[in-house]
Amino acid sequence: MAKKQLKIALIGYQFMGKAHSNAYRQVAKFFDLPVEPVMKTLCGRNEERVRAAAEHLGWQGYATDYRQVLDDPEIDIVDIATPGSSHCEIAVAAAKAGKHVFCEKPIGNTLDEARRMLEAVKAAGVKHAVFHNYRKAPAVALIKRMIDEGRLGTIYHWRAVYLQDWIIDPNFPLVWRLDKEVAGSGSHGDLGAHLIDLARFLVGEIEEVSGLMHTFIKKRPRSAGADGKLGAAGAVEGELADVTVDDASLFLARFRNGALGTFEATRFAQGRKNHNKFEINGSKGSVVWCMERMNELEFYDATDPEGLQGFRTIQATENSHPYMEGYWPVGHIIGYEHTFINLVADALRAIAEDRNPSPDFVDGYENQRVLDAVERSHDSKSWVAL
Ligand SMILES: NC(=O)c1ccc[n+]([C@@H]2O[C@H](COP(=O)([O-])OP(=O)(O)OC[C@H]3O[C@@H](n4cnc5c(N)ncnc54)[C@H](O)[C@@H]3O)[C@@H](O)[C@H]2O)c1
Repeated sequence: MAKKQLKIALIGYQFMGKAHSNAYRQVAKFFDLPVEPVMKTLCGRNEERVRAAAEHLGWQGYATDYRQVLDDPEIDIVDIATPGSSHCEIAVAAAKAGKHVFCEKPIGNTLDEARRMLEAVKAAGVKHAVFHNYRKAPAVALIKRMIDEGRLGTIYHWRAVYLQDWIIDPNFPLVWRLDKEVAGSGSHGDLGAHLIDLARFLVGEIEEVSGLMHTFIKKRPRSAGADGKLGAAGAVEGELADVTVDDASLFLARFRNGALGTFEATRFAQGRKNHNKFEINGSKGSVVWCMERMNELEFYDATDPEGLQGFRTIQATENSHPYMEGYWPVGHIIGYEHTFINLVADALRAIAEDRNPSPDFVDGYENQRVLDAVERSHDSKSWVAL
């Protein structure tokens, strides 16, 4: 029997647009889903470019205004992969049009936007998902399973860094990611939001924070193009403009369950390209994960016999490990793009089964509450309770 189809419209077609397109193209090749995803419409603002992108990325057609896909009764899911400034408007309109809404992180540029987005999907009764893809790395999902099984015992510490270095050069231009109006914040919402999601997923809800944010380079050359791709845009010589977002964002956190957390997100860690790493210490053991070796985790089991204790490396590629059954024989690793495939597989399955995907806009909103509290803590130079 033919599977029910879910027809998708994707807004935006550069970095995340490419990652999401790949996920929709691949997902049914690796996972036996109860539905068939159909890549119906790719949406961008420049007709020539969006037509070429649609053909290149495997979409059946294209649109030059997101409202066109809202008017298309065949579209089931609207997926938003544009900069943060357009998320709220598109998500609210899509929900009102009765579409399920998937959105890139952070879901809004402000807490108020995130709240409006959550209210809109709830009021419309549509399903919603947010692309916190790192939860979907098999090794991270395995850590979640280990924590749920009690292998770490009581969790005492969460220690996380997300380090990049792509804007250290003061002549790097003011791309959209460095403009608060478009991006909402800098490393804080871009990188910090991922750490917050991992912390909420693995440790639990955060109760209070103390934040410190900083902009090292306060003026930069204007960007010659709208392209926000890391390192891709050229500078306009002689024309400097204000950087309106943070370059680095650090905070301390107390979790509701009593654990303590440290978070550091920066684009100024020379030599670090996408160093998204955390360590968790519990009463019975510790785990470490780093995106740069994403198939592995390190585990210290304090219940090992004395004399044989030490960190061991577990490769999360067994068929019994989360998400791996659909891929390759054991030891054959997967990569960054697979985190998106796994996320889309979960989300499509949830919709087919009339459940909400996870993570969803509630997670997006809770994440934004933490981002917002850290900003207020930095501004007031005091601890802020959530
Ligand atoms: N999950 C992740 O790991 C991850 C990684 C990078 C970026 N992101 C998030 O994804 C979102 C997009 O980032 P990106 O890196 O793909 O940016 P990008 O600059 O590479 O691409 C943005 C795309 O949006 C289009 N666009 C902008 N405004 C639009 C509008 N009003 N209507 C239609 N199209 C519009 C642009 O033309 C471009 O195609 C951001 O929210 C960002 O925080 C998430």
